Amino acid sequence: MNDFVFHNPDKVYFGRGQIEHLPEELLKYGRKVLLVYGGGSIKQNGIYDTVARLLQTSGIEMFELAGVEPNPRYTTANKGAAICKQENIDVILAVGGGSVIDCAKGVAAAAMTASGDVWELVSNRVWVTEALPVVAVLTNAATGSEMDTWAVISNQDTNEKIGLGGSALIPKAAFENPEYSFSLPTYQTACGAFDIFNHVLDNYYLAGDATFDMVLEFQEAVMRTVVKWAPMAMRQPDSYEARANLMWASSMALNTVLDGGTVHGCACHAMEHELSAYYDITHGHGLAIVTPRWLKYILDSTTAPAIYRLGVKVFGIEEGLEVVKGAEKAIDAVSDFCFNTLGLTATLSELGIDDKHFKDMAEHACFGGSISGPKTLTPSDVEAIYRMCL
Ligand code: NZQ
Ligand code: ZN
Repeated sequence: MNDFVFHNPDKVYFGRGQIEHLPEELLKYGRKVLLVYGGGSIKQNGIYDTVARLLQTSGIEMFELAGVEPNPRYTTANKGAAICKQENIDVILAVGGGSVIDCAKGVAAAAMTASGDVWELVSNRVWVTEALPVVAVLTNAATGSEMDTWAVISNQDTNEKIGLGGSALIPKAAFENPEYSFSLPTYQTACGAFDIFNHVLDNYYLAGDATFDMVLEFQEAVMRTVVKWAPMAMRQPDSYEARANLMWASSMALNTVLDGGTVHGCACHAMEHELSAYYDITHGHGLAIVTPRWLKYILDSTTAPAIYRLGVKVFGIEEGLEVVKGAEKAIDAVSDFCFNTLGLTATLSELGIDDKHFKDMAEHACFGGSISGPKTLTPSDVEAIYRMCL
């Protein structure tokens, strides 16, 4: 068990009627708000109207940055930063999923720099300690961006997708109304659910010191929650219970409550971000394809006990099996969850991806070194895992 610091200042308003508190949270920072949103889903499901009404009746002046892409581009964040500078924006309001919230964080950070260019911060791996305040209204249970320090920004020209981190990027407040995710398409529900699952798995003790039992049990509870409620949310999109369980699981998975004493390897995330960077695929789908192959690749006598434990605790696999056999059953259960329960296609080939860029992608995923975690992965390991996904 390692030493750690826990500090998450995000104030979460969870539930149906909480949006009424939005103006009071925004007004803590000023009257000029930049509303950031995506391709229009918030106009179709009525959230835009609700937010606009609340701002208008509270005397808040609203500016807009619309059209944030899934896998948000740095160029879009830079447009937002330019508006902030020109209009002296006080606070950024992100209404959407992870892409919108991440873009808003990019805007918030870039607005404080002389150049207004978020890519300068991203490419120099700057830890952001100064940014405009961000308030988030979450519409997709997935990334945890509503409560975490990260924003993942893409540069399509260079095929790069990189995390921008910083204490200043944690939203000041997050509004989580499960009803706001009722309108999510089934595919996005599945992808978001697996993203949550993998945020925990990428941080789970798959090898080594597993003495912090409380954190393990919490992690397993969050993964079990996803396994239980994602199928219900897909079958019945307006199930409040299902959406609420997934939404809070999304926040818990990355708000660092589950980090206590663990070592973040993020192997699957490092590998997936290259897939999205090169092929602009949906993050959770890429993770679902990579994760079972990664587990197979790292399975040996040191990782088998923990992988088997995952199978027992999260998927209800029987106890008392020979440990490697048990771990293999656990990996089969993860595959079954991804490709049958969530219905995601199982191979990169089905997404039109071949091995053309695997070598470069593997180098990038290792950031010029290797990926740490239960098994250290070198670029040749990563390339081998990509090949298993074809
Ligand atoms: O463009 P809009 O209109 O917003 O539509 C979106 C988009 O088409 C739609 N959507 C979202 N909420 C909806 C809805 N449609 C109908 N009803 C709703 N209630 O769903 C599509 C996908 O949205 P997006 O925001 O891209 O999905 P997600 O929340 O999964 O975010 C993915 C991005 O977050 C990054 C990913 O890499 C990816 O770029 N991540 C961010 C992390 C972080 N900040 O900590 C960590 C994650 O590991 C992840 O890397
Ligand atoms: Zn993720």
